[in-house]
Amino acid sequence: LHIVVLMGGWANEREVSLMSGNGVADALEQRGYRVTRIDMDHDVAARIAEAKPDVVFNALHGVPGEDGTVQGMLDLMGIPYTHSGLATSVIAIDKELTKQALVPHGVPMPGGRIVRSADLYDGDPLPRPYVLKPVNEGSSVGVAIVTDDSNFGNPIARDAGGPWQEFETLLAEPYIRGRELTTAVLGDRALMVTELVPKSGFYDFDAKYTDGMTEHVCPAHIPDNIAELCREYALKAHRLLGCRGTSRSDFRWDDEQGEAGLFLLETNTQPGMTPLSLVPEQARQCGISYGELVEIVIADALT
Ligand code: DAL
Ligand code: MG
Repeated sequence: LHIVVLMGGWANEREVSLMSGNGVADALEQRGYRVTRIDMDHDVAARIAEAKPDVVFNALHGVPGEDGTVQGMLDLMGIPYTHSGLATSVIAIDKELTKQALVPHGVPMPGGRIVRSADLYDGDPLPRPYVLKPVNEGSSVGVAIVTDDSNFGNPIARDAGGPWQEFETLLAEPYIRGRELTTAVLGDRALMVTELVPKSGFYDFDAKYTDGMTEHVCPAHIPDNIAELCREYALKAHRLLGCRGTSRSDFRWDDEQGEAGLFLLETNTQPGMTPLSLVPEQARQCGISYGELVEIVIADALT
């Protein structure tokens, strides 16, 4: 089997994608597959056509590798690829569209509203504390928690700036106090629940990718009913969105509110696949090695 591992690109998550892609490619080479690594540029279609792979392993994160663009290109080329297809990707990359798809079916997600970043100069879109995030980024790029101490939403913000400033369309959501949980789905099975405990601040880009800055508790030390609900919602989201291969759903849980305090934040159709990432970690806890995980995702793309 000849496998193109597609990675890199120009998204904000480029470096994460290179780690995912090289991890996957190394594991495949160790297992004897023929591998071509492609760092995506604007000639990507020509380069894939020239390589003539049997399958593409999509190790891209963010736009345009996670939003349906690359998926549509590969559909047109008639080349099978891993992870979710076009329509699923379009919906899942957009946290507002995801709400419209999941909330009516009983998956709780935080309320909130879409705002233009320019409108933030007029004042707060929600009572504080709230979270501002680009509607379609990953890895906490551009995310800010706005508290009573923040200078956002007043004339000072114009000069001081905020991480959201370079993004036009933002989602404002009430901040949910408590704990950060995540659950991977592989094939038709929700794996486990990991709790992310950042050593300081919140689970932002640096906390996600700096070794030692976040403790992963896997399986999470939470009540059985909450773990069960995480698995139920993650599987439901995977199915309702039509995800393929693997996905990972992220949650906040207000532990003072019991089951009513659990909210799904988003479902990632291209979850991190660095050897230290969360999906590989949960798979390992279930007895599936990193190399086996990669093979399962590829096998799924070929059926
Ligand atoms: N967006 C990053 C890669 C993740 O969800 O793991
Ligand atoms: Mg994400």
